[in-house]
Amino acid sequence: MRSRLPIIAAAACLLVATCVEESAADAPRRVARMDFGKTPDGTAVEIYTLTNGKVTAKVMTYGAILVDLVVPDRDGKPGDVVLGFDTLQGYLTANPYFGATVGRVANRVGGAKFSLDGKDYQLAANNGPNSLHGGIKGFDKVVWKAKEMTGPDGPAVQFTHRSPDGDEGYPGNLDVRVTYTVTAANELKIDYAATTDKATPVVLTNHSYFNLAGPASGSILDEEIAIKAANYTPGDEEMIPTGSIAPVKGTPLDFTTPTKIGKRFDQLKAEPIGYDHNFVLDADAKLPNVAATVFDPKTGRVIELLTTEPAVQFYTGNFLDGTVKGKGGVAYAKNQALCLEAQHFPDSVHHANFPSTILRPGQTYRQTTIYRFSAR
Ligand code: BGC
Repeated sequence: MRSRLPIIAAAACLLVATCVEESAADAPRRVARMDFGKTPDGTAVEIYTLTNGKVTAKVMTYGAILVDLVVPDRDGKPGDVVLGFDTLQGYLTANPYFGATVGRVANRVGGAKFSLDGKDYQLAANNGPNSLHGGIKGFDKVVWKAKEMTGPDGPAVQFTHRSPDGDEGYPGNLDVRVTYTVTAANELKIDYAATTDKATPVVLTNHSYFNLAGPASGSILDEEIAIKAANYTPGDEEMIPTGSIAPVKGTPLDFTTPTKIGKRFDQLKAEPIGYDHNFVLDADAKLPNVAATVFDPKTGRVIELLTTEPAVQFYTGNFLDGTVKGKGGVAYAKNQALCLEAQHFPDSVHHANFPSTILRPGQTYRQTTIYRFSAR
């Protein structure tokens, strides 16, 4: 009888999704939880490790932040590919959104105000006169509740948070869910959902800073990127869109074929120089198709970005200037990482020609973004 138990357990595992966390003692745990310190008000922060044996992600309840993401290079050697800090303290003091879940509205809202259904709303301004990434205390600076959710796609953690009516000036109680899953296809999949009791704009994204050669390995300007976007939304000096949707053709924003990130830096007019632009994804660049691909010639690592969203903000860490010291005490310099923030267009509340970002009671906001890893 005894000898048949493992077979029965294995059969049960095929049926019961959560078994991956509770499998035989010799198998690695797929989701592990640890304490990661406390916020100044004494709230405990937890960090969860999700792994499929090849790709390992660490995510924490503070900011629903992706802390580490370890993926193999072309020789199978594992290495972390995201900027961040070794301790919670780093995230509490000087975090330029490393790994963060950003909301209620990612990117900029011009003048930190908007009108909706005949009512005016004043938001917290934290970027000159504008509101950036949800305001002064956005979703990246709150402690979320966590639940292990391991299911058919792989080991997962679901974070939940209620943003109260009036939070940073936004209307309505917003219930937000963010689920991180490490899938069998070597993907980090991020699913977002939100519901509200008053109409409100909602734009959620992840703000990970990637460096495929490792967070301490210098500039990303030799990495190559392709973005399936024939158009972008030009902005003013404060990066508020003018409202036009312009072709990338003939500009240094044309990444419709793979191009070295630094190749046309000298043609950019931005100060500090670098990419910080909203690319309008082509109609055929939505999930399940690939929207963008980054390749690192040194390690062979590749990220593919897949998303339900209409746009991606491609940002080359232009505001990193060596003052932030991250993992291992490394000073992060300008262009030491890139962000691929899948989202709606910036400042959509002021542009009727942009896809709407308004969520109404009874509706559910949903977005899925996948970072898929491989090496060549
Ligand atoms: C913005 C940048 C900003 C960075 C960090 C990006 O999404 O486009 O302008 O500096 O986030 O806040």
